[in-house]
Amino acid sequence: MLYKKLVEKTLEFHQLNDYDLILEKILSETRKFLNADAGTIYVKKNNFLKFHYFQNDTVLTDQSEGKKHRFSRLKLPINNESIAGYSANNVETLNIEDVYYLSEDLPYKFNKNYDKSTGYRTKSVITIPITGSNNNLLGVMQIINKLDPNYKDEKKVIPFSKEDEETIVKYFAVQAGVALERSMLTREIILRMVKMAEMRDPKETGAHVKRVSNYSAIIYEHWAKNKGMSKKEITKNIDILKPAAILHDVGKVGIPDNILKKPGKLTFEEFNIIKMHTVLGAKLFQNASQPLDLAAKDIALNHHEKWDGTGYPGYIDDFDNCTTENVCSKPKKGEEISVFGRVVAIADVFDALVSKRAYKPAWSIEDSVKVINEGAGKHFDPSMVEAFNSSIEEIKAVLEYFKE
Ligand code: C2E
Ligand code: SIN
Ligand code: SIN
Ligand code: SIN
Ligand code: FE
Ligand code: FE
Repeated sequence: MLYKKLVEKTLEFHQLNDYDLILEKILSETRKFLNADAGTIYVKKNNFLKFHYFQNDTVLTDQSEGKKHRFSRLKLPINNESIAGYSANNVETLNIEDVYYLSEDLPYKFNKNYDKSTGYRTKSVITIPITGSNNNLLGVMQIINKLDPNYKDEKKVIPFSKEDEETIVKYFAVQAGVALERSMLTREIILRMVKMAEMRDPKETGAHVKRVSNYSAIIYEHWAKNKGMSKKEITKNIDILKPAAILHDVGKVGIPDNILKKPGKLTFEEFNIIKMHTVLGAKLFQNASQPLDLAAKDIALNHHEKWDGTGYPGYIDDFDNCTTENVCSKPKKGEEISVFGRVVAIADVFDALVSKRAYKPAWSIEDSVKVINEGAGKHFDPSMVEAFNSSIEEIKAVLEYFKE
């Protein structure tokens, strides 16, 4: 029933939207099918392969450790000198029995640095390019150390068979290409919408919105785990939260320049106009039916609500006749505010604090964390602040990665 299982798994990743989640899932499923101890997925960026996900059941006992590599800057040039580089450069699959005994004639060498630093012994490696519909290179997947299923108590590494290479690995690589291309399309459209907002509001940069999106996913994961939500449910929600959070401020495209770009403090009237960016953002998705669009609408509308009921815009009866005068006439508080709104609120404020703004200097991480904690029960959901506090190391990694 191998093929039935393959098809089931394929359907699972074709249902995902988020580029990162798709990559992570492809890698873990391919490894599972081949009984492999480790694996790496690289994505093509210009003339490099960027290290994207790394999984290793022996060295990384905690899966979240591997996730941190998502925010590492490791990359390999696409040339014939490394195994992955060769595979990318020639769009060719390499099935190697033992990377420590490569023939001297081969152009590529195995880089032992990782093994040296961890004590791991990389042995059998299958490397396959992932391509899109025009045979364009999207990335490379490496599946490492196939384990003999007959040995239960110790790990005995065996080579990958020709059949592994031509059936499972090939199949997953093709499916990966299709899923990735689709998610890249969505992602590009989202980032184009952000570019529009960015032209209007120079501080809503690509880096800011990507940070907010990544923090939101991290905080949400901790929060949902604390609530006892299943892993499956959490992944499903993060898959829409992450891309949708990028769009939290797209409504700013409808705010006049002289207010949006004002270098100093806003007047009461000007701030009332700024508040409309939440409603305008939601209006962009007014007739939405797709989960991703619905989440984008939810987040645009709810990210400035406050736990104690002093945020904006509150309940809106009629989106078409909503004005600066009737906004905030019916406040939302506590759990009336959507979960996604509550998590993005923290992510957005934290990033606004640590960033320089036309109206304020950048604050230290320490002071910013303090402000978030002082806001627990007032501005923010206390259970979300708790999740934020346990996320702080991962948040710092994101901040470092998406530096401007
Ligand atoms: P933004 O700059 O992205 O800020 C997002 C949110 O971060 C703010 O929402 C606020 O909750 C928080 N925040 C930002 N700076 C500070 C700060 O110095 N201290 C504290 N405690 N919190 C801070 P808010 O207030 O609803 O503002 C929404 C948007 O309105 C801001 O987005 C910004 O675009 C604009 N804005 C707010 N105040 C001013 C201002 O004084 N001058 C100008 N030019 N724009 C402002
Ligand atoms: C390579 O494919 O040679 C790079 C991967 C590694 O160094 O383990
Ligand atoms: C990158 O990995 O550099 C871009 C992906 C992202 O923005 O999340
Ligand atoms: C969730 O149920 O975790 C997300 C839906 C919402 O925004 O309320
Ligand atoms: Fe906003
Ligand atoms: Fe923002």
